[in-house]
Amino acid sequence: MVLAGIDRIVLASGNAGKIREIADIFAGLDVEIVAQSDFGIESPEETGTTFVENALLKARFAANQSGLPAMADDSGIVVDALDGRPGVYSARYAGEGASDEDNLELLLQQMQDVPDDRRGGGFHCAAVLVFPANQHEPIVVEAVWRGTILRERRGSGGFGYDPVFLDTVSQKTGAEMSREEKNAVSHRGKAFRALCDVLQEPGRRR
Ligand code: IMP
Repeated sequence: MVLAGIDRIVLASGNAGKIREIADIFAGLDVEIVAQSDFGIESPEETGTTFVENALLKARFAANQSGLPAMADDSGIVVDALDGRPGVYSARYAGEGASDEDNLELLLQQMQDVPDDRRGGGFHCAAVLVFPANQHEPIVVEAVWRGTILRERRGSGGFGYDPVFLDTVSQKTGAEMSREEKNAVSHRGKAFRALCDVLQEPGRRR
């Protein structure tokens, strides 16, 4: 399997919550997940136009700097009535340096005249693993969490667009779910579990 001979993977993220979440998912594998900050690596500028491009950019940077396999993700919310916006620009939708609150407020404003039956959208996540010096082709997986954009915030947990994103199945917003509930259904939880599964496929060799 891909993991043969790999005992450490660098996680190209500076977000402590994400690092904990992903370390939990990989807990069953015999591999240590190390934060890029442990190597003094910072995130490069996200200049890609797709989630996959941005995830590859971050992971390649960390792999080159550390000399180890590196994993990264990129995510955002894709809203049907806005032709897919904010998409890869989710973190800076209201402008460079905008807060989560600024971005959410702009989304609510843009959605105010959209009728209830056209308020669908989804969180998308690309998760990738790349290898230093191209020892192996990159592994890329993508996942989506579908829901509806509410007109008002609900709940106090989560981050980003969680308070206005209603999960279709549970009818809770991302901000009303516990961390475990959200991980079980979220775009990021699904993507990293899929990546973890691919790494364990017996047919894949380094
Ligand atoms: P990142 O690329 O994973 O850091 O996420 C980019 C942006 O997408 C974040 O700043 C949030 O605005 C939004 N986002 C991604 N995942 C979530 C989520 O699970 N809940 C709410 N917002 C999210």
